Amino acid sequence: MAHVTERLALVGVESPEVEAEILVAHVVGVTRSELVLQPKVPRKTEKALERLVARREQREPLAYVLGEWGFRRLTLSVDRRVLVPRPETEVVAERCLACLAAAGEPDVLDVGTGSGAIALAIADEHPGARVTGVDVSAGALEVAGANALRNGLVVEFHEWDLFAGLPTGPWDLVVSNPPYVLPEQIDGLEPEVREWEPREALVGVGATEAVARGALDVLRPRGALVLEVAAGDAARVASLLGALGYADISVTRDLAGRDRVVEAVTASALGAG
Ligand SMILES: C[S@@+](CC[C@H](N)C(=O)[O-])C[C@H]1O[C@@H](n2cnc3c(N)ncnc32)[C@H](O)[C@@H]1O
Repeated sequence: MAHVTERLALVGVESPEVEAEILVAHVVGVTRSELVLQPKVPRKTEKALERLVARREQREPLAYVLGEWGFRRLTLSVDRRVLVPRPETEVVAERCLACLAAAGEPDVLDVGTGSGAIALAIADEHPGARVTGVDVSAGALEVAGANALRNGLVVEFHEWDLFAGLPTGPWDLVVSNPPYVLPEQIDGLEPEVREWEPREALVGVGATEAVARGALDVLRPRGALVLEVAAGDAARVASLLGALGYADISVTRDLAGRDRVVEAVTASALGAG
């Protein structure tokens, strides 16, 4: 195990010891805490471990190396076709669930669904919800569909370009974690993100605005819009929503304390126009 930690540290992985444990536990087929009982890697799994460590040494994201990643109560398959679901996005799903708490069978649209993380978490945690996820990437939609099957959940997935407006609802809630990294910011990101995650999932100019405008046409009166935004961008997005006529605008912090989720409701059928 120590030599795996050393190799990961050498290439600049941020938490080499933890990741070494995760990789060893994965190949041995035990949890990290069970590793204490079995600290030595069995000979028959050495080759498999070597393959995974070599991939991680290339700074391929740990989630892709493992082939799966946890999101709220779900385990999702992930590969290079989708963004790795982030902890801050769990807060987005939580805010959606809070907005839907009083609704029996709400119609929900997830724009830029990627692995299906938000859509599937809502279907999982609000069993009456009728959830649809859309994405411009056919590859992402394949992953999302497989994740629905894997988790025994029913969500409709469709190919759709958010810049063409949003699918006609009407929806009780529109949620989106749109691409919001600016083109000039991409070089400053970690190699795991910059070199491995899909560019179209990261970089986007005007996607947040397009979703906010498009949602006005397809949300029911008093329907909710929930958006994940870039760190430092919440105030701008909140005032954009105000200018578009949304009401009850609020901002929620992520687990790191950064303003990260902006939500609002359509004022009324007339006010939404
Ligand atoms: C930041 S990722 C979010 C993925 C997932 N919802 C999550 O939170 O983990 C943005 C997603 O938007 C999709 N996307 C990018 N441009 C789009 C467009 N014009 N129309 C629809 N989806 C788009 C990408 O393919 C990607 O899956």
